[in-house]
Formats: sequence, C-alpha cells, structure tokens
Amino acid sequence: MQTKLNEVRNKLQAYGQEHLLAFWPSLSDDSREKLLQQIDSIDFDLLQQLSGKAGKKEKPDSIEPISAEKWTEFDKSRQAELEQLGWSLLKQGKAAVLVVAGGQGTRLGHPGPKGTFDIGLPSRKSLFQLQAERLINLSGKAQKNIPWYIMTSPENDAETRSFFAEHHYFGYDENSIYFFEQGVFPAIDDKGKVLLARKDEIVMAPSGNGDCFPALKRNGILDQMKQEGVEWLFYYNVDNAIVRIADPAFIGYAAASGLQSASKVVRKSHARERVGILCMQNGRPAVAEYSDIPEELMLAADDKGQWLFPYANISMHLFHVNFVEKAAAYPMPFHAANKKIRTVDAKGDKVVPEQPNGYKFEKFIFDCFPLMERMALLEVEREDEFAPVKNKEGQDSPDTAREMLYHLHRKWLLAAGVSRELIEHQPVEISPLLSYAGEGLDSEVIRSILASRVV
Ligand code: UTP
Repeated sequence: MQTKLNEVRNKLQAYGQEHLLAFWPSLSDDSREKLLQQIDSIDFDLLQQLSGKAGKKEKPDSIEPISAEKWTEFDKSRQAELEQLGWSLLKQGKAAVLVVAGGQGTRLGHPGPKGTFDIGLPSRKSLFQLQAERLINLSGKAQKNIPWYIMTSPENDAETRSFFAEHHYFGYDENSIYFFEQGVFPAIDDKGKVLLARKDEIVMAPSGNGDCFPALKRNGILDQMKQEGVEWLFYYNVDNAIVRIADPAFIGYAAASGLQSASKVVRKSHARERVGILCMQNGRPAVAEYSDIPEELMLAADDKGQWLFPYANISMHLFHVNFVEKAAAYPMPFHAANKKIRTVDAKGDKVVPEQPNGYKFEKFIFDCFPLMERMALLEVEREDEFAPVKNKEGQDSPDTAREMLYHLHRKWLLAAGVSRELIEHQPVEISPLLSYAGEGLDSEVIRSILASRVV
C-alpha cells in the first residue's frame, strides 16, 4: 500500500488536494483502501477545469426561436394515423421507456428515492406505481411488454430495487424492468478543494440526468436494446405525476418526423416563467435555462402578440436508438450548482451547512440536443401531461400535482358524460389500469368510480 500511497500523495499535491489524506494516520486498513480507490477514480484534470468555471456565468450563445406543431391542430385523420403508427411500433416491441430516477430530490426533502414518493392520492400510490400501471395498461393493449429502463444512483439503487420487489413490481412483468446506475462526480468547496463526507470518504454526488446515455452503454443495456430490436426510447423524469409514458401518439409523431428525436413541450404559463426554453442556439436545437435568456427575449412577441420563445421543456423526449448511441459517446458538459453540502471539519466532525458551501456538477440530458440539426417538437396541453413534484410545498409540490391529477381525471369524466355537480370539489382518482388517457370510461366503469371515488 505504501507505493500506492506515495503515488496518490504526489498526484494530490500536483492538484492541491492533499487535504484528502488529512485523516490517513487514524484510518483502518479497510478505510485506507476505500479512500485510495475513490481518489483513483477521480479525473482531477477535469475537476480542475470545472472548478475554474464554477460560479462564473458563461456568455449565452445566440438564441433564435424554434417551431413546434400542436397536437390539437392536427385533423382527426392525422391524429389517428400517428397513433396507429405508435401502436404498431409498441406491438412490434420497437419502443421502450427510460426513466431518470437517480437524483437526490433535495428540494422535496423525501428521504428515499423520489419514485417511491406518495403524493397523497386516495389510493396512496407512489409515483413508481402510477407509472407501472400506465405501462401495464399500454402493454395489455399492445399485447407486448414494454421494456422499462430505470436509472438509479449508487445512493438509491438498492432501495429502489427493494421497493419494486416488495411491491411485486406493481404487477408489471419483472423481466421487462431493468435497473442501472448512473455515475457520480466529486463535490468541491468554494476554493476548489474536494469535500470529504467522512474521514475516509469523498462527497460523490450523482452526475446529472445527462449521464443516462453513457450509463446505458456502460451497463450493456444499449447493446441489449439494439439486439432486441428497440428503435425508439421514451425518456421522462420520475417526478411527473401525470406523465403519459410511452404515449403511442408521441411515438408515432416522432417516427413519422423522419428525425432522430422529438420533444413534447408546453406553452409557458407566463412570459417570465422559470423554465427551460426550447430554442435554436448557434443554429442547433437547444434548451436555454431561464436565467440565460435576456429579459427582452423572454418577453419578445411577433406582430400578432405571440411570444417568440413560448415552448417550455417538460423533459419528455423520444430518441432514436442510433442517436442514443451517438450521444453516449459524446462528452457532455458539466454544469456547476452551488449547494449546501454536508462535510467534515478539520477535526473530522460533521458539518451541516446552512448556506451553500460548495459545488456539485451535473450533466443535463438536453445538452445532447445540439448534436442534431433538427428536432421535432410537439406542443401538448400542460394540464393533460405535466404535474411535476419538485418542492415540499407551494409551486410544483405534491399538493399541486395531486390537484392537477384530480382536475385531469374530472375532465375525463366530464368528457365521458358525467355531470359536473357529481364530481366537483372532491378528489377524483381513476386508476391507470382502467384508463391511460381518458379512454374506456363506459357507464359501468363510471358507476364504479362514482361509487368508490377511487378505482
Ligand atoms: P431534478 O433536476 O429535479 O433533480 O431532476 P432532483 O435530484 O430530482 O431534485 P433536486 O434538484 O435535488 O431538488 C430531474 C430528473 O432527473 C433525475 C431526477 O430523478 C428527476 O427525475 N436525475 C437528476 C437523475 O436521474 N440523476 C441526477 O443526477 C439528477
């Protein structure tokens, strides 16, 4: 171990990170081994480059508007044609699903994996269960199990797997569910020093949802997908309570576009909404963070009063597997986020900071968009598809997501002929096993929903 230690010490000195061995004399052999391995896995050159940029704002690229097509503006026969194409791909096993479920959910403050969170519906179903049941519904109709790839983090992988096992995979085919882990990256303090979580352990944070394609590749899943004939991968965030997983209409739309990727978007709710905006940057599709868009562009409108940048990113994308392969080999940029990071002080005692004390680094999935010349954008209604669970309370919280789900399910019942008085001002939850997007609500089903309020 001595030779290895000398080697590591020299390396750390070269990068100004020798403090990582500060507790060496007091560590057990196992702890020493673990720490050396962790240090060995770090790309200090990259870390040095990133810490030079952390906290500095980069000049935004040139931003131009991008166009989208609106689902409700397609005529009925076009809609039916696209849906049919999507169903045919699902039936042939050519479409699969990828959920990114590896984050830390710090704003929500839920101790377990975000997908295990129960937003307080009458059924007490977790986000994972709602998603599994939508897949059961679709798979039944397609008569083909849809592969479901679940990206976890090293921190939440075991808990996610046991949650699924304890709940018997929510009735979905266990062999169609594949868990795989994303990567991690060290966190640093304001001076660029790598932070220790304990005397013998470096703070390693999940490296962002943008790691999903390299992680698919590293874990052999990409090759498996290709062997099994999967052509399209539906990507979504685990924290959307009403996500239309593997929506056949969207799959058909992407496949008919002749392009390698499509993204669902919604209209910004107000001009300054704090969301990522779909646009063209340097002539390529991209998502600009709201903080990167100059105020005048946020508000810019054409002569009919229509915003020039109306499309909000809702993290629902379809990627052709050939593109996934290409993106997996592309070194996506890291973004630094100033965060409160638990660490230890000079004596090795735990420190729980009250203010941000350092940086974590994350890759974002949308940074692969500029690898394409064009992307197909499908505008959908927010109230039908997007109820994010990000914060403990207030905006984008379990309360708002639950209300949106009730609102959506009431809307389905109204469309099925139920009178407003019967369902107003009370929770209405329709099981995804009965209806994926409002279909199949015949009088018998409606009777049972109204009788129990939860089906
Ligand atoms: P968010 O950016 O909302 O991050 O993730 P988060 O970790 O869930 O929550 P905060 O920011 O700490 O409060 C958007 C999606 O990307 C996934 C999340 O699970 C969520 O589905 N994600 C995020 C990962 O899979 N890995 C990551 O490293 C980060």
